[in-house]
Amino acid sequence: MNVMSQTWVAIGDLTEIPVLGARCVKNGDMTIAVFRTADDQVLAIEDKCPHKNGPLSQGIVHDNCVTCPLHNWVISLETGRAQGADEGSVRVFPAKQEDGKVYLALTV
Ligand code: FES
Repeated sequence: MNVMSQTWVAIGDLTEIPVLGARCVKNGDMTIAVFRTADDQVLAIEDKCPHKNGPLSQGIVHDNCVTCPLHNWVISLETGRAQGADEGSVRVFPAKQEDGKVYLALTV
């Protein structure tokens, strides 16, 4: 039987992520963008806009959302869903910070 489980993986220090910015983490073929909000929450989504695959990690963070740098779609960092009239979503990954270290829950 092949059982997949999620494990918290340390990916570095909170200070390595700019406030209102992101740091990218590779997980197999996928790139995950780990964002830091103004109040030091960490939120992680796939670094691939649901519109035309724009690099969300290069977008601007506001109100727990990110604005895609290519065509300004706004994506929720909590649900991964496009906001407003736009439709689409990206994968969301559980993320947390403890004592200044950032962790992602990844399937291993
Ligand atoms: S690729 Fe993100 S809005 Fe178009």
